[in-house]
Amino acid sequence: MTPENSKGHYPPSDDYRKRAFVKSVKDYDTLYNGSLKDPVAYWAKEAEQIDWFSKDWEETFTWNKEENRFTWFKGGKLNVSYNCLDRHVNNGLKNTAAMIFQGENDSDAKVYTYGELLYEVERFANVLKSKGVKKGDRVAVYLPMIPELPITLLACARIGAVHSVVFAGFSSEAVYNRVSDCTPKVLVTSDGSYRAGKKIDMKGKVNEILERDTSVEHVIVVRRTGADVVMEENRDTWWHDDVTKVPLRCEPEVMDAEDPLFLLYTSGTTGKPKGLVHTCGGYITGAYSSYKYVFNYVPGDVYWCTADVGWITGHTYILYGPLAFGATTLLFEGVPNYPENDRFWQVAEKWKVDIFYTAPTAIRMIRKTGDEWIKKHDLSSIKMLASVGEPIDPDVWKWYHGTIGGGRCPIADTWWQTETGSILISPMTGAFDLKPGSAMKPLPGVEAAVYKEDRTRCATGESGNLYIERPFPSLARTVWNDHAKYVETYWTLFPGHYLTGDGAKVDADGDFWLLGRVDDVISVAGHRIGAAEIEAALIAHPAVAEAAVVPIPDEIKGEAIYTFVTLKDGFEESDDLKKQLVNQVRNIVGPIATPKTIQIADGLPKTRSGKIMRRILRKIAGGSKHEELGDTTTLVDPGVIDLLIKGRI
Ligand code: WTA
Repeated sequence: MTPENSKGHYPPSDDYRKRAFVKSVKDYDTLYNGSLKDPVAYWAKEAEQIDWFSKDWEETFTWNKEENRFTWFKGGKLNVSYNCLDRHVNNGLKNTAAMIFQGENDSDAKVYTYGELLYEVERFANVLKSKGVKKGDRVAVYLPMIPELPITLLACARIGAVHSVVFAGFSSEAVYNRVSDCTPKVLVTSDGSYRAGKKIDMKGKVNEILERDTSVEHVIVVRRTGADVVMEENRDTWWHDDVTKVPLRCEPEVMDAEDPLFLLYTSGTTGKPKGLVHTCGGYITGAYSSYKYVFNYVPGDVYWCTADVGWITGHTYILYGPLAFGATTLLFEGVPNYPENDRFWQVAEKWKVDIFYTAPTAIRMIRKTGDEWIKKHDLSSIKMLASVGEPIDPDVWKWYHGTIGGGRCPIADTWWQTETGSILISPMTGAFDLKPGSAMKPLPGVEAAVYKEDRTRCATGESGNLYIERPFPSLARTVWNDHAKYVETYWTLFPGHYLTGDGAKVDADGDFWLLGRVDDVISVAGHRIGAAEIEAALIAHPAVAEAAVVPIPDEIKGEAIYTFVTLKDGFEESDDLKKQLVNQVRNIVGPIATPKTIQIADGLPKTRSGKIMRRILRKIAGGSKHEELGDTTTLVDPGVIDLLIKGRI
């Protein structure tokens, strides 16, 4: 047991410490301080744990500060799928489970050994080649959580194609936007998907998208639900047919460390999502190294990350990190509360999961449904827990620790982003006395710092902007097709320091406490949604003159979406119109962006330069009184405030 100590912290048990890579604070300090004395040498040593066809990189690290371009291990040659598969097959893991697939239906499960996964990846890599996909070409992936999803990504990596996954829950419009930005030759999808017992259409949405002008020449379709789908001749083929027509072996392409591995889009403060570009050498080094330090995987363990591969967490910690490390990773198609509220625990008990990684929103939802669902199951196989996506409240942390972890499992609260590619801040759970609610310390090789607006360092306990000093290997190199956007977003406020967009503070022990986004990005159930994207969707409706979107606190999802809308002349407020507006957002952005509230307003608070003051709207939506709104004297028409408060829903 690891009871709370007199300071309210949670030290690791002796048993757990034995499994850990870093077993004491002293070891961490030595490792960490050593890594910062010479970060370049440190990262070169981490990169050596990856298999390279050639380690003769010209320089380990180059950094052109004027252009905000940097490289890691450039000139080094490797293949990421080789690192995730072949090297383990060659090193005695051929018959070891690489991936356990657990379908939504419990009897639908399959275990892939490393040997078998390699076989599937090679065959599908040849299918991609047969469609004309070459090194550097993009492949769009719109698939549910089925084995073909990781297989597709690894097949792309094998031939040097750049994958771009679009989360299966996004609407066709969101898919179209991403596809038109990254111009893929091939799109891989399925007839449909299962979600909480329902069959969801996917191919129909793809057909809708491809009626418009796109670069897609071929669509490969996985049969999942058996739904009737319309296949376009000369464009669409079935996965199960294609794989029978190609050779079984496919040599891995020799890639430069700086060649792109994938793009992944994320919402920002403008209406257009950014395609972050991750490279082969730096990304896989970061994924491997962070996986090693954070999860303390021991051979034979079953590791389960409940994220969707459509997000960065799924890319790095379902797929690339664990497989590069030679772990057994569980891929789960279902949801926590179907067929019953104990689905996660049934799966954890069935597969004797050792390491469990999820998001605070899932933990809050599970806590709400009641402890009896957990007590039905033997969770004694679980040895460590982890969390990602938003700050985990100390109260929720303690519940996770006590009820899921049985009081014996440490929790790694892992902070990172789509941009960073891998975890940057997390406790070393075998070494630290854990503080509920704190992500604690940066990983070796990473220097994090909190600065005020005037770019001076924050004092102990003072909140400010979280930056990472210097580029590290797994940091995205650019935004696809838009380097200017990359520079503006991450490197302009404080040149030479990577701006995370998160608020943070550091306590007297040097531990980090994350405070959420400081920009107009809303975190719904841990998913980043740009306020501007929702506003753009609303404004596209014929009745809408203006829209402003702010977050309000939500018990389960962390934040929910509150929208203020002003109507064009001639349009009247009605329930029907509000329904239309909600559907408008669902159709354009996707169901994850569904507004909780639509308030129709006569006017919005604006500065003289015409900027909508979201700070004020956030407070109004959250229930503040007029006198709690702070300075409103810069508004053009302070009279709107009372009307907005009166109309609050
Ligand atoms: C938030 C997900 C507090 C943060 C990996 C960040 C967190 C954004 C944590 C990135 C954490 C992620 N504590 N906040 N442990 N982890 N965040 O790109 O605001 O989907 O900027 O990557 O999630 O979200 P993204």
